[in-house]
Amino acid sequence: MARQSLANLTRWAAALLVAGSVALSGCGGPGRADGRQVFESSGCGSCHSLAAAGTSGGVGPDLDQSLRGKSPDYVRRAILDPRAELAPGYGPLMPTNYRERLSAQQLDALVELLAGAGGR
Ligand code: HEC
Repeated sequence: MARQSLANLTRWAAALLVAGSVALSGCGGPGRADGRQVFESSGCGSCHSLAAAGTSGGVGPDLDQSLRGKSPDYVRRAILDPRAELAPGYGPLMPTNYRERLSAQQLDALVELLAGAGGR
């Protein structure tokens, strides 16, 4: 009896692990997106430094510094509408098409990553 339920538990845990790694790999499906991976695959790191993603791009602001104290809403707006408010000292170089390129889940994951990096 006890042995049986242990086997069930093991199978359940294995299934959970598989589901988790599929969600993290970000390849398709409506699962949760991984912010770090979205950051890397969207090219953000070629322009921005972000410690959490290990990137050191220098075209745009260092996000660990510049997002300190910024709200998640600010971060979301900066990604969706980069020209609405330019970070002081920077030109209008950030692509404006992330609104089309990112899914809602990818955007949420990015905002969570970035607001966590400097925002709180
Ligand atoms: C081609 C270079 C480039 C790429 C690629 C790029 N950015 Fe930017 N980004 C900039 C520049 C330049 C600024 C400063 C001007 C402005 O505010 O738009 C900026 C500003 C920002 C800001 C506001 C920073 C502040 O302190 O106000 C955020 C947040 C941001 N980028 C996030 C991202 C994310 C997330 C991605 C990827 C989805 C990305 N950027 C891709 C160049 C880039």
